[in-house]
Amino acid sequence: MRWNQGLPSSSILADIFPGASELSQLMRAHDWASTPLGPPTSWPEGLKVPLRMMLTSRFEMWLGWGPDLAFFYNDAYIPTLGAKHPKALGQPMREVWREVFADVEDRIRSVMVDSIATWDKALLLLLNRNGYLEETYHTFSYSPLRGDTGATEGLMCVVTEETERVISERRLNTLRALADGLIGTQTINQVIGEVRTALAFNNRDFPFGLIYLLEPSGGWRAEALSREAQPLLGVEWPLQGFEGSVSARRIALQGLSHHLPRGAWQIPPSEALLLPITRGTGKPFGTLVLGLNPYRPRDYDIVGFSQLIAGQISGALANVEALDSERRRADRIWMNSRDLLLVVDQDGVFRAVSPSWTRVLGYAPDELLGSDFRKFVHPDDLAQSEEALATAVRSDNLTAFENRVVAKSGEVRWISWNTSLEDRLVYAYGRDITAEKQQALALLAAEEQLRQSQKMEAVGQLTGGIAHDYNNMLAVVIGSLELLNRKLGDPSPLVKRYIDAAMDGARRSAALTQRLLAFSRQQPLNPQIVDANRLVAETSELLRHSIDANVRLETVLAGGLWRVHADPNQLASVLLNLAVNARDAMPDGGRLTIETQNFYLDDAYSAANFGVSPGQFVMIAVSDSGTGMTPEVMAKAFDPFFTTKEVGKGTGLGLSQVYGFIRQSCGHVKIYSELERGTTVKVYLPRMLEQGDLPVAMPRAEAPAAEGAAVLVVEDEAAMRDFSVEALTSLGYQVFAADGGAAALALLGQHPQIELLFTDIVMPDMNGQQLAEEACRRRPDLKVLFTTGYTRNAVVHNGVLDPGVVLLGKPFGIDQLAEQVRKVLEK
Ligand SMILES: Nc1ncnc2c1ncn2[C@@H]1O[C@H](COP(=O)(O)OP(=O)(O)OP(=O)(O)O)[C@@H](O)[C@H]1O
Ligand SMILES: [Mg+2]
Repeated sequence: MRWNQGLPSSSILADIFPGASELSQLMRAHDWASTPLGPPTSWPEGLKVPLRMMLTSRFEMWLGWGPDLAFFYNDAYIPTLGAKHPKALGQPMREVWREVFADVEDRIRSVMVDSIATWDKALLLLLNRNGYLEETYHTFSYSPLRGDTGATEGLMCVVTEETERVISERRLNTLRALADGLIGTQTINQVIGEVRTALAFNNRDFPFGLIYLLEPSGGWRAEALSREAQPLLGVEWPLQGFEGSVSARRIALQGLSHHLPRGAWQIPPSEALLLPITRGTGKPFGTLVLGLNPYRPRDYDIVGFSQLIAGQISGALANVEALDSERRRADRIWMNSRDLLLVVDQDGVFRAVSPSWTRVLGYAPDELLGSDFRKFVHPDDLAQSEEALATAVRSDNLTAFENRVVAKSGEVRWISWNTSLEDRLVYAYGRDITAEKQQALALLAAEEQLRQSQKMEAVGQLTGGIAHDYNNMLAVVIGSLELLNRKLGDPSPLVKRYIDAAMDGARRSAALTQRLLAFSRQQPLNPQIVDANRLVAETSELLRHSIDANVRLETVLAGGLWRVHADPNQLASVLLNLAVNARDAMPDGGRLTIETQNFYLDDAYSAANFGVSPGQFVMIAVSDSGTGMTPEVMAKAFDPFFTTKEVGKGTGLGLSQVYGFIRQSCGHVKIYSELERGTTVKVYLPRMLEQGDLPVAMPRAEAPAAEGAAVLVVEDEAAMRDFSVEALTSLGYQVFAADGGAAALALLGQHPQIELLFTDIVMPDMNGQQLAEEACRRRPDLKVLFTTGYTRNAVVHNGVLDPGVVLLGKPFGIDQLAEQVRKVLEK
């Protein structure tokens, strides 16, 4: 054997290749003589010294020597070589690392030619050490080794393989980026977007990715995680039967005809991983398909890593699902709320409105969104509302702030608001409290009426008591005067004059007392069956003589007028009182109208007027075109001794007498008056049912003529307007409301469907007649129904209205309103 023929002794070899390491032994046994290096004894010190150092070091090192860079390495380097060990020993470096030689060639040149050391940190090298190319990372330095001549003859490499560290760090980064990205995701799209971003930075582990999510419908929603992966959505992945499984599955991609995205690599992946995206309980959310790194075919950690990714995705999707159901719950509240929900910004611009706005106020969402809240607030409440918004914006939340909001129909609704501030937006919750407000107002009115009637009662009792005593004393005075007159027989003219004067005064006092007794409802009455028409006719004959020529008197007597049961003398005196008042109110002349009519006061009227019981009445109305009364005068007109007339001209007992008598006769009296325009006093006396008379069936409210026809109600008095709106709405009409001519014309312009204008006649600014003229000029087909507290004849008579127009007198019940509206619409 050549081993025995002149080979260096083992002690010399142990000096060159010291130690008991595997490589030392291998090198000692190696047949160096047959290599270009020759026997080790001939090797230069420049090689032997670093060799010794390397073999005794536990740092990973190799060195190359000679033109071919014959390859030496130590035990620490064995794992890096993998299957190349031990064949690599003594082989040219170019052979050993054929697959990466091109990557490091320039570094070798730098060392060998220029004698300049190199340094690389975690350089990616695709090493073939286990029968396949493998992604590896190495931090290394090449340094020159000098031969005996001093020239660089070899190089020494100290290297650390960092594959594990680099890959772990990369995966950690992916997980961290994904976790960061998924924080706060609210939709499935956002989740997918974040997965896309996180995986885009790790195209070494995953050259491509796809997500398949199970839809509630049972189908799949498929998303590619990169553009290049898009075509792979067409692949029929074995997803079926996968929904229930919880483990990952590797599948080979060789058979696929699709072009496979390569990610960071030159070659396509040969395997993909299918992972369930699990859900806490129940079916998984779906499946994650990840193309695997072709340079790490035996990487088993990749499954655990991928499962962590799938786990993060499922966590985020569970979050989205929870948010969704939370949102749906909130949405349901938003959608179904009866309250007005509103998001408004600092400038008062609507950002979001709940559907209740349409239901309660009639506005479509796009009429509100982007609009200023001021557009919808009642002008009288604007200042307070602005202040309230400013308060809410300062985050002093509003509690039960009330204002009026104008509905699309023009109707005014009271809303009570609560607010809270979030992200500089005001969230407002409004409750419609119109009904409560109306009730409160009605209650107030009822209380006022009650107070009024109690006052009248009290004053009545007081005056009644005094009047009685006074009457008795007057009886004594008058009786005594009569006795004196008789006793004296034929007194002197002077005495007679005194007695007559005393008598006259006493009689006038008695008349006054009579009126007081009438007011206190204590006068003895002598009720008889009365035909009011006849009584009016007779009384007006009387009147003609007592009124000036410049006052025109007209009587309008209803046919078929019912009878009443009343004291005819007292009733005549009522008429006289009213006529005298009318005359006094028209010093410069005018029109005096007296009319009669059968009338039905309904439950609604009775409810609204204290002490009136519903039923059939005969109405006698006395109207004038005189000065009218202020509301203050009207409130006191029935009070005894209340007069606005000069001393001596009026006692203030006329209306008191009327009031007392009518009440004593179970009737009802009502004043309508407008300053500068005139007054109507309506007296209602209960119908007397004679033998053979049957109570007439009252007309019942009928269905509207045209189903849902639109009616515009114009009335300056809020309570009256509310009543009409409510009544017409309950009859099935679509109702718009305005408090005056200007608002009415605006509504008419906005809502061409309005068929009927139902307007009060006497209103400030523009009266009903003027409004109707203007409205009909714009809309010739518009139908008009007037209403007024005055009687029809008075109005026509006074020239306010043309004859022929349709007029509904106040007070009216729902039935009368229904009948008139239907009639006009059918015309
Ligand atoms: N038709 C009317 N037009 C305007 N004001 C009226 C009318 N009727 C009554 N009034 C007002 O009501 C007040 C009270 O009327 P009332 O009839 O009770 O007393 P009088 O007319 O002043 O006095 P008397 O009737 O006792 O002579 C009047 O002073 C007047 O101010
Ligand atoms: Mg009077």
